[in-house]
Formats: sequence, structure tokens, C-alpha cells
Amino acid sequence: MTKPRVLVIDDESDVRNTIAAILSSRKGGYEVVLAASAAEGLALVKKQPFDHVLSDIYMEPEDGLFFLSQAKKDDIPANIIMMSGQADADMAIKAIKMGACDYIHKPVTAGQLFFVLQRAEEQSRLKKENAFLRSEIQKKYSFNNIVAKSPKMLRIFNIIAKVADYKTTVMITGESGTGKELVAKAVHFNSNRRKHPFVPVNCGGIPENLLESELFGHVKGAFTDAVRAKKGLFEEADGGTMFLDELGDLPFPLQVKLLRVLQEEEIRPLGDTRNIKVDVRIVAATARNLEQDVKNGRFREDLYYRINVLSIVIPPIRERKEDIPLLVDHFRVKYNQRLGTAVRGVHPEVMRLFLEYRWPGNVRELENVMERAMVLTETDTIKVEDLPKQIRMSTGVGMPPSIPGLDGTILSIKQSSKILEKELIKKALAKTGGNKTQAAQLLEISLPALLYKMKGYGIVPEPGQAGENEIDA
Ligand SMILES: Nc1ncnc2c1ncn2[C@@H]1O[C@H](COP(=O)(O)OP(=O)(O)OP(=O)(O)O)[C@@H](O)[C@H]1O
Ligand SMILES: [Mg+2]
Repeated sequence: MTKPRVLVIDDESDVRNTIAAILSSRKGGYEVVLAASAAEGLALVKKQPFDHVLSDIYMEPEDGLFFLSQAKKDDIPANIIMMSGQADADMAIKAIKMGACDYIHKPVTAGQLFFVLQRAEEQSRLKKENAFLRSEIQKKYSFNNIVAKSPKMLRIFNIIAKVADYKTTVMITGESGTGKELVAKAVHFNSNRRKHPFVPVNCGGIPENLLESELFGHVKGAFTDAVRAKKGLFEEADGGTMFLDELGDLPFPLQVKLLRVLQEEEIRPLGDTRNIKVDVRIVAATARNLEQDVKNGRFREDLYYRINVLSIVIPPIRERKEDIPLLVDHFRVKYNQRLGTAVRGVHPEVMRLFLEYRWPGNVRELENVMERAMVLTETDTIKVEDLPKQIRMSTGVGMPPSIPGLDGTILSIKQSSKILEKELIKKALAKTGGNKTQAAQLLEISLPALLYKMKGYGIVPEPGQAGENEIDA
């Protein structure tokens, strides 16, 4: 084994030499390098790798804290242990806060020195082990960047792996921010088409006339602005996958044309007389309720059935809360890297709020909340005050419940009130531990009215929750 390398920085040669003598006296020993100033020390750590640095604090012209802050800024991996001739607890705290791994008091004894170095070695061993375990967990719980462990998501991973290689059209539905695009990419990159393009098309974001020439291309002079011929996205995607995002927003006239392309597997560029064969796998996504759109006549039934061959429904995160801690950690690591922060975790109260909050914007919202909190936080732990108001105020009971249909479909007031009423009853029962009398009081309705409504909505309190003094309805 190689000897651990230690850099000793002190402006007094006596101190440097004593420490060097102690360290070299040890069997197995340390490899010791000496520096007489902070600047000299900095130049050395930037050039060579060290396991530990022992640095004096009070030196001229730059002091040890200057060395420490520069070394931290440059991400020097060595354990930095500060030394001082003065017993100064405030200084020790300051140094540790700045990233020193320990603080010792001079004159340094052999016992103290070895103890501190051993403790530092143990710390770095744990850090390495931790990083390794974390990356293993990350691997275990992620599939093409999709982080999840809930049974619902694991089932989706399974489906993706199974269908990837077939040309089957896949329809992905899910609320905003649930990861529809990630799943679409996973389908493509797990398929034998992965070496060909993945071409995303936002069906709602491009005006109808433009979208048509975008998709199918055009010849020169096909319309006023067509000064030169242009390949369409279908041709670009040849051999690969086209991701039709927000398919529900595809204008009605284009729905007919898309259906024809899917059936004939060929396109005709605008103004052209020839048809071009294309081999494109379609993956579509929508946050809208397309079935409803078909009923309302907004979306062609034939196209719907042609595309909805295999459907993947991504549940909102409030229905797979076990993924939340995993996602929190995933974004913590991601944004520590991106922002250069060193956030170690979230306060338990923050996690409690996260588990309770409704997350209308799903994973995207969670990601934004984490990034924002990591920028705002002044310590290495995210606290409740670093969260946006809507999450701090979320208390579960009394919160507006999820109303299916907020994704664009309009529900009548009557329908919405029913959903709201059912949610409120469930929350009141949860809050009173299933005690219906208390729940009725909370809801300000009579007990018979509550029992009647519970029966109507098919609400059964959790087993063992019913109050003892009540007769079950
Ligand atoms: N399971 C997950 N693991 C890691 N990151 C995720 C996961 N799900 C979503 N994300 C991240 O959340 C963000 C939103 O995901 P994505 O764009 O795929 O959602 P979407 O369903 O297409 O949203 P929208 O309906 O708004 O278009 C992205 O930054 C994505 O990387
Ligand atoms: Mg999307």
C-alpha cells in the first residue's frame, strides 16, 4: 500500500519539522511535504494529490483560512485540518463551517495528531462508501433517467422494455409533468431504432398551416414562402421514432392526413406529385382526456384507435408517493452538481409536506421546487422556509382536492362539487381516525347526512378506524 500523503503548512520551521518528525516516526508512516506559506501550500495541492493537509491558521501574508477557502473553491479533495496556537472556539467553528474537516490546538502531540488523521481517514472512507452506495441505488432505481421504485412505475418500465422493439404505436397519457417525454425517449432508446433519430413534434405549438409543411415537407414554390424545397419531419425521422407531443391539440384537418400516413406508411410533401415511403414509429403523448375529445367530436375516432394500440398511463406523483424521497435525492444530486452547492438533504418536516402536497405540476414541479430551495437555503439542509408558499400552506385537510378535468376537459359544477365533497369527506374521516360523529361536526353536516353521502360515494373508512361508540352504517 502507498503511504498516505500529508502536506504541512506552517510559517514556523520548528512546527513543520516537529510534525514531520512525528509523522515519519510512525511504522508504515506518512509521506510528508512541507510548505512555509498559504500560497506555497496552494500551489502544491493544485499540482499533486494529497490525502491530508495540516495548515496553521495565523500566518502572513495570507492566513490559513485563505488557503482553506481557495482549496475548497478549487475542489481539492484532501482532508484539511486546521491548527492554531490559540484556543479559539469561534475560529474552530468558522473553519469547520468553511469546510475544514477538523481543528487542532498547537503544540501538537503525537497522540493527538494520529487520532485526528485516523478520524479524517475514516471520514473519507465513509464518504467514498456513501457515494458508491448512492450510485448503486441510483442505478437500481432508474431506467433511462426515469427515477422510480413504485410498483406502478416499475410496471411501466417493464412495458417499455417489452414493447420497445416492436413498431407498435404507443400512446402515453398522464398529467402535466409526469414524465411523458422521458418515457417516450425510453421507448425509443431501448428499441432497435435507437441509432436513428428521435424527432419530437409539439402538435399544439405550431400553427396549422406550418405544421403540415413541417411534418410532410414541401417542394419549392408549394406556397408563397416556399422559396426552396424542405424535407419534412417524417423524412427526418425515417428509421427512427416520431414523438407526437400533445397529440390532442393536433388540428382536425391534420388528423385525417396523419391517419393516412400511418396507414399507407408514405407521405406526400406539399406541392409534390410523388409519395415517399417512410419507416417511422409513432409514440404519442397527451395530458388531455382524448377519449372525451373523441366523444365530443374534437378528435377523430379512427385516428384515436389507430394510435392507441398500446397505452401507457403515467400516474401523478401523489399516487406514487414512495417515489418522492427518491426523486428528491435525485434532484438534490443533480442540482448540487449544476449549482455547485453542497446540500445534504431536506428537513424531515419538508419531506412530510412533500408527501402531503398535491403536486399539480408533478415531477416537473418537484424539480423546480428543489432547485429553488437549493438556491435559497443558507445551510446544507432544506428547511420549510425555503419552500414556496403553496407547499408551506399545504396541510392536507381543507386543501382543494384534485379535480380530474383540470387538464382541459371542462366538468360541470355539479360534477366538480361531487368530487370535492367526496374528497372532503375522506379527509375529514382520515383526520378523525374514522370517527363519523366528529367528521360530521368538522364538515358541519348532520351524522345521518354524512352516512347517507358516504354510502352514496362508496366511502368505507379504513378497517379499525371506526369510532367505538358508533354503529356502522
Ligand atoms: N421519474 C422521473 N425521474 C426523473 N426525472 C423525471 C421523472 N419524471 C419526470 N422527470 C423530469 O420532470 C420534468 C418533466 O418531465 P417530462 O417533460 O417528461 O413530462 P411531461 O409529462 O412530458 O410534461 P408535460 O405534460 O408538461 O409536457 C423533466 O425535467 C423530467 O426530466
Ligand atoms: Mg411533455
